[in-house]
Amino acid sequence: MLRLGVNVDHVATVRQARRIDVPDPVEAALLAEKGGADGITVHLREDRRHIQERDVELLRERARTKVNLEMAVTPEMVRLAERLRPDDACFVPERREELTTEGGLDVSAHQGKIRDAVQRLQGRGIRVSLFIDPEEEQIAAGREVGAHGVELHTGRYCNAAGDRAVELEQVAAAASLARRLGLEVHGGHGLNYANVLPVARLPEMVELNIGHSIVARAVMVGMEQAVREMKALLIKARM
Ligand code: PXP
Repeated sequence: MLRLGVNVDHVATVRQARRIDVPDPVEAALLAEKGGADGITVHLREDRRHIQERDVELLRERARTKVNLEMAVTPEMVRLAERLRPDDACFVPERREELTTEGGLDVSAHQGKIRDAVQRLQGRGIRVSLFIDPEEEQIAAGREVGAHGVELHTGRYCNAAGDRAVELEQVAAAASLARRLGLEVHGGHGLNYANVLPVARLPEMVELNIGHSIVARAVMVGMEQAVREMKALLIKARM
């Protein structure tokens, strides 16, 4: 089975634009579950620009599926993850120096720090995946540090012009290597309704995490209804 993890960060971004309590990413997550999401993904950033700690706490209480916390590999975030106890954690780069050229976490260059963080969280029953570029060196390092899995960065594939065959092959080869090394294989970043199928067909993929395209589509399919409800109120006001 291929799991769909729905990332609701953008819902929190809209809320934070007003610093009030709507739209609530937790409510959005519950609706995503109704639609068939197999898990909810949130990125608690160090600058708290969208998702807040309160969101993760409420998600832990209310989500019926699993909660996947994307986080930087910092002592503060590791302590928070130990307290918040998500089902899964995905280590992502937040600082420029943690990035490889294409944007995944440079596990190879930060093995010691990442190994410690993986051990701490996995010792508490939280499965850790590492968000990396689809490259052999990073996959091998991912295995070295003892992670449960890797989330392959699909951005290069999604952003490529033309038929994207080369970039798809990089993801496919990375998925195959990771699986052979015993790592669970996830994918994400930039996936949308038009480009998801070839990635979803890779046999080693067990989870895709998708945010932007789903939230963007939700705005479009919800707009007509939202306006209809407001218009009905205005008509009622003058009856
Ligand atoms: N996976 C990871 C590790 C991410 O950081 C993101 C973006 O927050 C996603 C998946 C989802 O990417 P998108 O919003 O482009 O679908």
